[in-house]
Amino acid sequence: MAATKEPDNLDSKFYKPADLFFPAYNNIGLTFDDLTLATQYSEILPRNTQLDAVLAEGLHLTIPIISSDMDTVTESRMAIAMALNGGLGLIHYNMPEREQLSEVSRVKNHVHGLIQDPIRATPDQLIGDILLLIEKKRFSFSTFPVVDTQGKLVGLLPGHVVKQRYAKRKVAEALTPRNQVHSISKKELERDPIARADKFFTDHPGIHKLLVVDDHDRLQGLFTMSDVERITQERNAQFKPARDSSFRLLCGAAVSATRNAFGELDRERILAHVGGLVERGADAIAVSTAHGYSKGVGDTVRMLRDAFPKLALIAGNVTSGAGVEYLAECGANSIKVGQGPGSICTTRIVAGVGIPQMTALYVCSRAAHKRRVSIIADGGITKSGDIVKALTQADAVICGGILAGCHEAPGEVMEISGKLYKQYRGMGSMAAMKAGSAARYGHTSDGTRKMAPEGVEALKEVAGSVDRVLTQLIGGLQSGLGYVGAVNIPQLREKARFIRVSPAGQREAAPHDVVELKTGS
Ligand code: XMP
Repeated sequence: MAATKEPDNLDSKFYKPADLFFPAYNNIGLTFDDLTLATQYSEILPRNTQLDAVLAEGLHLTIPIISSDMDTVTESRMAIAMALNGGLGLIHYNMPEREQLSEVSRVKNHVHGLIQDPIRATPDQLIGDILLLIEKKRFSFSTFPVVDTQGKLVGLLPGHVVKQRYAKRKVAEALTPRNQVHSISKKELERDPIARADKFFTDHPGIHKLLVVDDHDRLQGLFTMSDVERITQERNAQFKPARDSSFRLLCGAAVSATRNAFGELDRERILAHVGGLVERGADAIAVSTAHGYSKGVGDTVRMLRDAFPKLALIAGNVTSGAGVEYLAECGANSIKVGQGPGSICTTRIVAGVGIPQMTALYVCSRAAHKRRVSIIADGGITKSGDIVKALTQADAVICGGILAGCHEAPGEVMEISGKLYKQYRGMGSMAAMKAGSAARYGHTSDGTRKMAPEGVEALKEVAGSVDRVLTQLIGGLQSGLGYVGAVNIPQLREKARFIRVSPAGQREAAPHDVVELKTGS
């Protein structure tokens, strides 16, 4: 059959644009698996597609994926990994406010490739102590900067002396002294520390470590040549890290509409805390609650908009056009859509409310378009195909469960019957609400009132690194764009044509009638 660029009439009768497809199902809520996208004539190779998302002025991501503000998903490690891959992490608020400020600082001060807190030795330690430490912590390296009690650099303990035969010697006897150790002042690192370190290693053949010090010669970090080489190679990667205008990684933080003892919005506390987050460089604040179309959330957004006119404000969650319009009116730039689709959510079961996600996204996207705000699809993403479908209506997606098994998510790995798992819990689960997130669900966590949990505590199989998981998701997303003939997300939105899938069609879409040996990932 000859390829044709124009869909003929029969195609257009079956495969419909969003504005014809969704209104035709205005009496039923649809979610990701209820529909599929038609392929279109394409001249686009998946690897040439662009995935940029602009959520607000100054909030520009190179991949449209955000890690959820949940206490088993996003703290600084996850936020760093997300931004390095071009996305964004929203630091959760189930921690003391001071700690959330430090978490944001960790992301904003992160220098890629610089080990900011290297393991140090002290001159009076024995080499035997260092050997024990390496064994206990399973370090894969054996070279250590040596510092005095003030943190000043005294020398470098090279790996070739960290041997059993020297176990009884003091570090002071075996170290390479300060005047023979190569170092650089932190100030000299400038905007592109990796380029600076890379040049240093080229200029100094045979030297594999570069120590970073402050004006008082206190140790501030360590570059290793192998890290720098790996990162230099990665520079050619298609999706650049998401950075601010000062070249720091982007970072978002979530807050709730906190109330005081009298049940009123705690304006002073919210303003002071958000002021602290902004001071530390937070690029976006998300007013994150289960019911965003509410007075408390609206008042919080309005107050933050007045106090911080240029701050990127995300707010939610909603599932109606009226909800989007309300939050946009209050001053939000980007609105989270999703009530009950999350993998750990029980809101629809407990409260009997919520809308299947694709219908909610369509309805909200039309209001967002009118109000010139962006929307973020939050929850229910279990595979890359769901992201493609979500982005036909939304500007970005928020993922929780899909990232919760990554090394960079908070929490310990546990072994059950030979398999490795990490904890993943809903922010509306009883345990998470007791730890502080009750306000998100309109409860108080003082233990004096009954709380109805709207989420479960669960486990996720360990999934490897964020890099690995995002590589799979991005690969799928790029394939989706290629099939639709779209070079970027706006074109995906324009070209997407939908059709409803029957239960048999859903079964057909997954591997069937085979004994599966390996999953696709
Ligand atoms: P996924 O499907 O990515 O969903 O695991 C993550 C999103 O789910 C929301 N969330 C909850 N919703 N009860 C709910 O009804 C909860 O306990 C809960 N915890 C998180 C949230 O929007 C998150 O990004």
